[in-house]
Amino acid sequence: MPQVRDRRIGVLFPAEAIAARNAAMAAEIAAAGYRDLLVVAVLKGSFIFAADLLRALHGAGISPEVDFISLSSYGAGTVSSGSVRVVRDIESDVAGRDVLLIDDILETGRTIGFARDLMLERGARKVGLAVLLDKKRPRAVEADHIGFVCPDVFVVGYGMDAAHAFRELPFVGVVED
Ligand code: PRP
Repeated sequence: MPQVRDRRIGVLFPAEAIAARNAAMAAEIAAAGYRDLLVVAVLKGSFIFAADLLRALHGAGISPEVDFISLSSYGAGTVSSGSVRVVRDIESDVAGRDVLLIDDILETGRTIGFARDLMLERGARKVGLAVLLDKKRPRAVEADHIGFVCPDVFVVGYGMDAAHAFRELPFVGVVED
């Protein structure tokens, strides 16, 4: 079991499985018929997933524009605070365009729901949601493209953090001790 910062990390989704799933998701997104596509990565947690999914999208023949929005609802804690904050906004005009939001994990849906509503308020024609992990639970928003259904445990790695640590791990894991 990998040991990082003196903690044992159980591997939940290995790098190879994520890479294979990214390629399949890219094919699915290519088949979904997005037009004049702007991909918006929801930072910070999605930065590694977005980088890999974008390169997979290139492999699937998609040539989007890319922008970034930084949202925060959890801060340094592990429980959602309930309110979403725009830390850094996109620079692109989304009016009349298709937008694909990329986030690392869907839990309550507040973060991606907030981002989707923001894009729609600004006149986006269609807003798709792509998430690597879906912690299935009753909520108002569902993703269009899902990497993996995730058990209800606190996950780190592949961009996701515990108090800003463990984002560098090439796999999705669980801190065991
Ligand atoms: C995490 C994650 C998602 C969101 C998911 O972000 O990256 O954006 O929470 O939870 P939800 O579906 O309940 O809204 P976080 O606020 O921890 O910020 P970070 O991405 O900057 O680490």
